[in-house]
Amino acid sequence: LTDEELLADPVEKVTAVGGARHPSIPRPRDLFGAWANSAGIDLQDKDTLASTVQAVNASPVPLTGRGTLALGESDVAPLIARAEAAFGDWSRTDVEHRAQVLERLADLLEEHRIELMAYAVKEAHKSFADAVGEVREAADFCRYYAQRARIDLQTITLPGPTGERNEMRLTGRGTWVTIAPWNFPLAIFLGQCAAALVTGNTVVAKPAPQTPGIAARAVGLGHAAGVPADALILAPGGPEVGAALTADTRIAGVAFTGSTGTAKRIARTLLADDMRPIVPLIAETGGINAMIVDSTALPEQVVADVLTSAYRSAGQRCSALRLLLLQEEIADGLIEMLGGAMDLLRVGDVRDPRTDVGPVIDDAAYERLMGYRASVEAQWIKTVAVPAEGRFVPPTLIRLRHLDDLRQEWFGPVLHVATWRAGELAETIARVNAKGFGLTMGLHSRIARAADVAEAEAAVGNLYINRSMIGAVVGSQPFGGEGLSGTGPKAGGPHYLPRFCAERAVSVDT
Ligand code: NAD
Ligand code: ALA
Repeated sequence: LTDEELLADPVEKVTAVGGARHPSIPRPRDLFGAWANSAGIDLQDKDTLASTVQAVNASPVPLTGRGTLALGESDVAPLIARAEAAFGDWSRTDVEHRAQVLERLADLLEEHRIELMAYAVKEAHKSFADAVGEVREAADFCRYYAQRARIDLQTITLPGPTGERNEMRLTGRGTWVTIAPWNFPLAIFLGQCAAALVTGNTVVAKPAPQTPGIAARAVGLGHAAGVPADALILAPGGPEVGAALTADTRIAGVAFTGSTGTAKRIARTLLADDMRPIVPLIAETGGINAMIVDSTALPEQVVADVLTSAYRSAGQRCSALRLLLLQEEIADGLIEMLGGAMDLLRVGDVRDPRTDVGPVIDDAAYERLMGYRASVEAQWIKTVAVPAEGRFVPPTLIRLRHLDDLRQEWFGPVLHVATWRAGELAETIARVNAKGFGLTMGLHSRIARAADVAEAEAAVGNLYINRSMIGAVVGSQPFGGEGLSGTGPKAGGPHYLPRFCAERAVSVDT
């Protein structure tokens, strides 16, 4: 069948992109399960689940929380000095040594998984499934960057047509400042540190003010794995500590994950002083992520993937779905199915493993999201009941009157829906691109040409076709965006480590 014939006859639209999939067919995300099994946490197994839940809930994790473990601005300069002094020795260690340290750290993360999960549940309000994913991803980052470093940091011999010996290699740059968000308080926090350390840099690491406890534990395990104390220094605190760290002219680079506004503030700080060295900024920020669904999509799969993408983790993932674009002909039916499925979401306490959607991170986030919901109440298509006590933002589906009305990332369980016309896929993608973000985009279609159009037109770092839009797997789905969503480097990908390095070329006249 030609694409034209496929478009004309929906019954025959079965030449799926990636196969006509049904929810019962294993997906790439089941890799999560495979890791969890190897780590002794199989949340599908009743007995393991029960004992894990009991152990996590009983784990005596000190409840830290915002501000309880924080430095002042004046504490920052001595930390940079210590990390700077440690750079020489650490950068001269063998790559193999640093790779093995990261692999030991991955082992320690798995060994201490219950305690780390307890932090993720209690400090960051992660669900059990997300807490397993958090530890898994952190360990994956360590192992993956260890493997990559062995490849990327090898000296390359280049042609020497005039008889010279020409070589090139990557080396550490100095002391990096890493700044992490609260929503991946272990995986992103440690992923940044691991990339900087294995490439021979030293690190001053600032976690989010909401999640200092899990970060402190991770740094402690890093030291136990063999990272010298001054090569990895924890700098807990809020924006003022982050601002002081990035203002220090001795630093060699900043790896930041968080909001677009903060990334821009850091970029301005790094450029403010004419005399400071020009240093790299790796920024991974937010998005207005759209999923486009056409009339050939499998409705049951779309509903499952929309729920996962928009409401898992209470919508508090940068990758999360914010804008669902349904082809006009299927919109009413799909919205009805989605509404029915939303009624099945369990919103509540994350210490109960049956919970699908937990609370949002803090009072400020709660007020912001509830205020926004209230301002668009006339456009609610569906919302669900939540417990009266606690910071539970009801998962909500909001009709968008004009695509241009959505201009900012709403970081919570609110999903906007609009329609598009058959035959206007490229134009619809262009309108999403025009918002200026470029993190994730989804397409549900079984027309091969639609996938080609999306691949050609979508200006995003991660395009997901016929699957959910969250849960990028280290090494398989390198993650990161462009435009307002970041400077482009993809964490967990083969080109990430060189971003932390200086490139040195040596030419010897033989
Ligand atoms: P945020 O920008 O408020 O804070 C992120 C970090 O920056 C925190 O550690 C914070 O203390 C620090 N910070 C704040 N102001 C600073 C300043 N002036 N100078 C230096 N540091 C400063 O973001 P958040 O609320 O913690 O996290 C949510 C945001 O992160 C969302 O926008 C989400 O999309 C984004 N995010 C992106 C990714 C990605 O990989 N692209 C992953 C997770 C989260
Ligand atoms: N890497 C995270 C995800 O894909 C943000 O959901």
